[in-house]
Amino acid sequence: MNELLRRILFLPPQASAASVGIDHLHFFVILTTILVSSVAGVVAVYFMARYRRRRRDQPTPHLEAPRWLEATFVIVPLSFFLLWFRIGFGQFVEMTSPPADAMDVYVTGKQWMWKFAYPDGPSGLEVLRVPEGRPVRLLLTSRDVIHGFFVPAFRLKQDALPGRYTQTWFVATKPGTYPVYCSQYCGTSHSRMRAAIEVMAAGDFDRWREEEKRGRALQRDTALGAADDQPRASDMVALGRRLAESEGCLKCHSVDGSPHIGPTWLDLYRRTTTLADGTTVLADEAYLTESMMDPRAKQVRGFPLTMPSYAGKLGAPETAALVEYIKSLRASVVPAPAGGPVYEQTGGP
Ligand code: CUA
Repeated sequence: MNELLRRILFLPPQASAASVGIDHLHFFVILTTILVSSVAGVVAVYFMARYRRRRRDQPTPHLEAPRWLEATFVIVPLSFFLLWFRIGFGQFVEMTSPPADAMDVYVTGKQWMWKFAYPDGPSGLEVLRVPEGRPVRLLLTSRDVIHGFFVPAFRLKQDALPGRYTQTWFVATKPGTYPVYCSQYCGTSHSRMRAAIEVMAAGDFDRWREEEKRGRALQRDTALGAADDQPRASDMVALGRRLAESEGCLKCHSVDGSPHIGPTWLDLYRRTTTLADGTTVLADEAYLTESMMDPRAKQVRGFPLTMPSYAGKLGAPETAALVEYIKSLRASVVPAPAGGPVYEQTGGP
C-alpha cells in the first residue's frame, strides 16, 4: 500500500527513518481529501439532476438545516485538521531535535555549491558520505545568501543562512546515492546548485573513515577537484584557539571558569544560560554563532553588554572554528546524558 501510493504520487524513494512517517501523513491527508471531494462532487451532480427546476414558476423552498448537521459540518473537518496538525507537529519536533549521539557534519552553501566537512576531517567534500542506520546532525551555514538544503529522498529541507548556524538531522536507512538540491532561489545558477549524499553500510563507512584518517581518501577527494575552503576540522579547534586570541575574545572571556568581563567559555557549550530578560536559552551552535554576530540579540544576565558584533569580521569557517574551540572546553569529560549536560549559569563576575 505504502509503495503503491508512493509510485502513484511520484514520490522519491524513502531513504531516511523520518520519511516513512512523513509520507504516511501525506497519504492520510491526500486520501481523505480525494475521498471527501469525490463524494462532494458526486452528490453535487446528483443534486443538480434531482432538484433541477422543472417548471418556470416552480417556487424555491426555504430550507433550514438542523443545528446538529451544521455542527457536524464544522466539527468533523476541524477534527481532521487538528489530528493532522497534531501528527505533523510531533514529526516537526522530532525532526528539529537531534539525538545527543548524532555524528556532526558541517554543511556550507555558497553560490552555487554545497560543501561538507567532518569535525575531524576531511573537509571541502562535494559528496557527503554517511553511515546507514546512525543519526547524522547537519550544522548548516552559508557564505553568501540564503540557500535551502533539500534532500527529497530523506524528506529533509533546512535553510542555510549567512552568519549563523541552523541544524537538522536524519538517519539514513537505505544504502545508495541521493541527490541534494537548493530550495531557495539564490541566483543565476540556483538550479545547478546540487550535491549528493552517499549512504554506505555502517561497516564500509567505518572502513572508509579509517582509510581517510590515514590520508588516502582525503587525497582522492582533493584529486577529484574539491576545493579546500574550510580548514580541516581536527585543526579547527587549534584555529579557533588562535582566533580567540587574535580577535580579542580572550580579553573578556576566560577559558578556565574564572570570572571575567564576559561569561566563561569553560563548559559553555550546551549550558542553559539565563538572559537579562529572565528567559533561558541552551548554548548550542546556533546560539554561540548568533552571540558572535549579534550580541544584543540574547544578552546574558549579570554581564555588561560590551561585546562588539563580529558580523562581517569573521567568515563562516572562522566562526565554525571558534564554535568548535568553545565546544572543546570541558571541565571534565563525562558521558553526556540525553540532550547533553545542563548547567545553571551561576551569577556574574
Ligand atoms: Cu542556493 Cu538556490
